[in-house]
Amino acid sequence: MTDRKKVTLPALFSKVGKSDPITMLTCYDYPTAHLQEQAGIDMILVGDSLGMTMLGYESTLPVTMEDMIRHAQAVRRGSPNAWLIGDMPYMSYQPSVESAIRNAGRFMAEASCDAIKLEGGIEMADRIAGIVRAGIPAMGHLGLTPQSVSALGGFRVQGKGALQAKKIVEDAKALEQAGAYAILLEMVPDRLCGLITERASDCFIISLGSGPHAHGQLLIYHDMFGLYPRFKPKMAKVFGEAGKVILEGLQQYVQEVSQRTFPQPENWFGMSDEEFDELQRLVK
Ligand code: KIV
Repeated sequence: MTDRKKVTLPALFSKVGKSDPITMLTCYDYPTAHLQEQAGIDMILVGDSLGMTMLGYESTLPVTMEDMIRHAQAVRRGSPNAWLIGDMPYMSYQPSVESAIRNAGRFMAEASCDAIKLEGGIEMADRIAGIVRAGIPAMGHLGLTPQSVSALGGFRVQGKGALQAKKIVEDAKALEQAGAYAILLEMVPDRLCGLITERASDCFIISLGSGPHAHGQLLIYHDMFGLYPRFKPKMAKVFGEAGKVILEGLQQYVQEVSQRTFPQPENWFGMSDEEFDELQRLVK
């Protein structure tokens, strides 16, 4: 374990005040959380993208609160100090303010999260306000919002035209006024992200594929290590070919077992001749 301090909301705003970029990644399991803790990642999002990256669904829509809580608990065990955000899955907050508060509370009580995130603009501002009133820090999510992928016409850049961009600016202001401490902008043009960042006064802005003019950056863990087989989004820089390394290791394992070169004596446990002779006598 590291001796790092717990990341708090004042610590995050202090980074923003000093123009120190905030680091954020998705994470879904204990061993990866342990690595992210050691690397000093500020904010970890247990994203409902786990439906695609971990469970192999085609979209995030089938993910349940139970899936999210189970993964968030594992991540918290691996990373006791990062600012941990539970991502509210499809239909856990859309039906009503009450459902939003109840399910946000589950992330806090059952998985020791520090905050939640939900998708949507002005139409979700009352959910954000209710959650914040209940004492739970809430992050907004605008631009490409994967739970609305059908309405958006696919996984594509949002806000390229001035009119759609203006709506995103207004949505960001509505979420900030509702009490969101941060807003994630996913796949919007860099200049739109810059404009929203400049105008943010009571919240900070995180970019996912939206350029450098934000208070921090987010990547999907599986994209940055070549671990998602279906597609690789343009915005995802690959920081290490972990998928390739693991595949090579698996192929070598198949080969060594097939050729009987694995295991070797250092990979198994022995027994003294005396005990073995006695065993043979006992089982005769
Ligand atoms: O679920 C998730 O990982 C997300 C990111 C795409 C931002 O919401």
